[in-house]
Amino acid sequence: MEHTNKVQDNQSNQYTRQAYQKGYFGRYGGIHVPGVLKEKLDHLAFTFNEIKEKGDFVNELNYYYRDYIGRPSPLYYAHRLSEHVNSRIYLKREDLNHTGAHKINNTVGQILLAKHMGATEIIAETGAGQHGVATATAAALMGIKCKIFMGRKDAERQQMNVYRMKILGAELVTTERGTATLKDAINAALEYYVDHPEAFYLLGSAVGPHPYPSMVRYFQSVIGNEAKNQFMEKENRLPDAIFACVGGGSNAIGMFSGFLDDPEVKIYAAEGGGEGEILYKTASTLVMGKPVVFQGTFSYCLVDEEHNPIDTYSMAAGLDYPGVGPEHSYLKDTKRAEYFTVTDQEAIEAFKILSRLEGIIPAIESAHAVSLAMKMMKDQEAVSIVNLSGRGDKDMDRQLF
Ligand SMILES: Cc1ncc(COP(=O)(O)O)c(C=O)c1O
Repeated sequence: MEHTNKVQDNQSNQYTRQAYQKGYFGRYGGIHVPGVLKEKLDHLAFTFNEIKEKGDFVNELNYYYRDYIGRPSPLYYAHRLSEHVNSRIYLKREDLNHTGAHKINNTVGQILLAKHMGATEIIAETGAGQHGVATATAAALMGIKCKIFMGRKDAERQQMNVYRMKILGAELVTTERGTATLKDAINAALEYYVDHPEAFYLLGSAVGPHPYPSMVRYFQSVIGNEAKNQFMEKENRLPDAIFACVGGGSNAIGMFSGFLDDPEVKIYAAEGGGEGEILYKTASTLVMGKPVVFQGTFSYCLVDEEHNPIDTYSMAAGLDYPGVGPEHSYLKDTKRAEYFTVTDQEAIEAFKILSRLEGIIPAIESAHAVSLAMKMMKDQEAVSIVNLSGRGDKDMDRQLF
């Protein structure tokens, strides 16, 4: 297997170097967990930082990216969408990956690390079910048993993914607590992890304590690196703007990481706005939240007056989460990226338009990014890329038409 640079993250700027080593993005991030887990996470961070510099590991990762996931994912010029918006728009087709979303980039990376560390049990949380499916897939691939935690509400609204996880041999644990959504699934998984620190927690987004935000960024940075090369090949320049949706922030940070050091590229992110900018009816964390410690990290979060995390709402299970990854908090404060609310209705509209104009049915999460791009790029003489994080098969029975 040949050693290429494909997944290697751009660790050149100072804040990313600090993030990989210490777990901080400016003042955000860190490890805010009980002592028993802190030791475990320190060991995980050490092992990850060591292994990512090893040619054998990078080669193995590139092998699975290419021959198992089907990378590189295409960068597709969306002709009819572009005509409709009167601007030029490319789609980064993460929906074409094996299992149908970007999540598999991260699970294949972490499972290789888990295998290297001798793990015998994988645990994971899931919201939309895409990370659960991607984890169950990677666990089957490596022959390691796996347990997936999911809120009951999410299990109901993403039934197809529940069946997929079961077929793949995962044990599904549904939780009734709270709103029975992603944050509750993470709490259940974290509790299990405290009681079973020998398990490998395969976290699905760029959230939680160090090293997850930088580790997940590393495995997802393949999106931005590929997109940049593909765009340069097609257009011989950089894009004017890039777009992604943000739940915890992993597909977005994967895409953004390739362009952070190019100030001429504008970076825009779409949050799950639900019914609008109204607390308890939205999941627009960076627009409406405050920085607090939540689920092991210091980052923006939707909170009440006592700074306790509150219930959120978005029709997109993958965006329906009060927290967000610490790097996004840093990018918001430094204004390198801008974050916007996209409502359910706007996302449904974009879902329909992309399906009818391009023959591409997006995940409802990804439709949020498409909607934002349609709004921001309308009549702009510019070229942009939207990260199409996943496909819409899982949303078929939700009657979006
Ligand atoms: C297709 C798709 N896009 C986006 C997301 C949001 O996650 P993240 O912000 O980590 O990319 C999810 C989460 O499940 C998803 O399934």
